[in-house]
Amino acid sequence: MKTVAIIGTGLMGTDIAFASATAGFEVLLFDTNRERLVTSLGKIQDRFKRYAAAGKIDKNKVEGILKRITVCGAVEDISGAVIVIECVFEDLGVKRDVFCELDRVSRADAVLASNTSSISITEIASATKRPESVIGMHFLNPAHVMNLVELIPGIATTRETVETAKIFVKKLGKTHVESKDYPGFLLNRMLIPMINEAVYLLYEGAGTAESIDRVMKAGLNFPMGPLALADMIGLDVLLAVIEEMYRGYSDAKYRPCPLLKKFVAAGYLGKKSGRGFYIYND
Ligand SMILES: NC(=O)c1ccc[n+]([C@@H]2O[C@H](COP(=O)([O-])OP(=O)(O)OC[C@H]3O[C@@H](n4cnc5c(N)ncnc54)[C@H](O)[C@@H]3O)[C@@H](O)[C@H]2O)c1
Repeated sequence: MKTVAIIGTGLMGTDIAFASATAGFEVLLFDTNRERLVTSLGKIQDRFKRYAAAGKIDKNKVEGILKRITVCGAVEDISGAVIVIECVFEDLGVKRDVFCELDRVSRADAVLASNTSSISITEIASATKRPESVIGMHFLNPAHVMNLVELIPGIATTRETVETAKIFVKKLGKTHVESKDYPGFLLNRMLIPMINEAVYLLYEGAGTAESIDRVMKAGLNFPMGPLALADMIGLDVLLAVIEEMYRGYSDAKYRPCPLLKKFVAAGYLGKKSGRGFYIYND
């Protein structure tokens, strides 16, 4: 187990690549958006340099680590990877197309993982001719900091695939929980309705963004409030996740708040766009 490929180098892909490189893996980066790819590599390089300057990582190792990260010009270039982690948009159609491609270009013994927050692994896996090798590998944001990874076997995923995924997670220095393949799995089944409810409170004028967040921070010792967390996740990602849960369960409790839809339509996507429930100037 030496080479990891990251497909989709946005917010999550970049941090998972960083974590993998830190753990000693060779990392292949691929994104259909060339600009995203270049930005991602730049972010990873900067972070390693900052970590070295702050003494968080051995300065002498940084150059070697950076040499093990390769930007791929075509998806075919990831063919050497043993672990492939898909981190593209939270959209079933996009993910199925990506897995169809990964099935074509990946080596026969590769584990094909999806970092989906909510989409059925079984549905993603059925786009390939090797559903036994497909697994959900749900990292939390920020992925290089957060310790837990949810592992989600689909209906056809073999125990061998699960065991390989477990070894990989351990090599990253992280811990795992195995979740069943139902929309939102374990973590987002609890987290996303709570955030959606916080958005409803704001929509109904029951509180301000600050008071809603403060209740959870000061009252329940949450490290951050649900609306600040929503901004960090990305409101577009959050909306896609809750819509997928609504689709999956056909249950009104997962109905996205109209205010969330409005913000996404306006391009208020949270931290990444400079504006969400809060304004960000950096
Ligand atoms: N944002 C979070 O807090 C969070 C947490 C856990 C899991 N996730 C999941 O991780 C995945 C990615 O989320 P994100 O927040 O990093 O999104 P993002 O929008 O920051 O990044 C997605 C990237 O995928 C790329 N992409 C789109 N189609 C592609 C294709 N066909 N091939 C290659 N690259 C393609 C885009 O160019 C973009 O760079 C989603 O499934 C999301 O649900 C997100």
